[in-house]
Amino acid sequence: MEQIYNFSAGPAVLPQPVLKQVQEELLSYKGSGMSVMELSHRSEWFEEILAGAEVLLRELMGIPDNYKVLFLQGGASLQFTMVPLNLAHSKKAAFVNTGSWSQKAIQEAQKLTEAVVVASSEDQNFHYIPEILEVPKDASYLHITTNNTIEGTAFFDIPQSEIPLVADMSSNILSNDYRVEDFGLIYAGAQKNIGPAGLTIVIVREDLIGQVPDLPVMLDYAVQAKNHSLYNTPPTFAIYVAKLVLEWIKSEGGVTEMERRNREKAALLYTYLDQSKIF
Ligand SMILES: Cc1ncc(COP(=O)(O)O)c(C=O)c1O
Repeated sequence: MEQIYNFSAGPAVLPQPVLKQVQEELLSYKGSGMSVMELSHRSEWFEEILAGAEVLLRELMGIPDNYKVLFLQGGASLQFTMVPLNLAHSKKAAFVNTGSWSQKAIQEAQKLTEAVVVASSEDQNFHYIPEILEVPKDASYLHITTNNTIEGTAFFDIPQSEIPLVADMSSNILSNDYRVEDFGLIYAGAQKNIGPAGLTIVIVREDLIGQVPDLPVMLDYAVQAKNHSLYNTPPTFAIYVAKLVLEWIKSEGGVTEMERRNREKAALLYTYLDQSKIF
């Protein structure tokens, strides 16, 4: 079988053993006589998959009990809307502008709240992570993009914030050993590090849920949390593959090992680029 090197940011490479297991179980999942794609999302089989994926993610990331884990749809891009809708109760939110994805998050938030940019690296084409000097105390949250997929910069030291810190972790979730307690909310599209496109992970501290009443149901973290991500039909197949990827990450040594491998790969590439006379 022909295999190529896939350097795409997302949908990114999935581990071969996971793809093989998917292939083996594709026509009949654990003797059910059905593919996972055909299983009811209310069946015991699927509820076990969903619960298993959550347990694994909690274990791998060290997610404390006072955080909810939501399995949603709409990509990280829908979180650019859902976060201000659910969290910007004071009608002000603070942002660090570190590149294209931060800018998109800011643009969407501006439609719903006052979005204040408290630090930016736009002056040097986003080549660095700017220092945050002051954050308005009356802002509901401070938003950062932990890894700037297009610009290639990342927050390795997480800023300490008096107001809840919200992170778009789409391109480095599970590949950097962050402390979940440092954040009020973390979100990520699954397609880079967790599984197939179509699944979005949200990890949110319980006290931040339900602050704004009467939101459209599908956009309300409170509704999604109360229904354990089963208010409507979730992306069942993507959640199943994500669970297998999480099992694989655990068997390979967890997030610490993923971080070690990524640093090794990055060093190889950046060392080459640094000594190259062409690049
Ligand atoms: C940091 C970051 N945020 C957001 C997105 C958008 O994600 P989605 O396509 O899931 O909406 C991407 C996609 O590449 C990304 O890299």
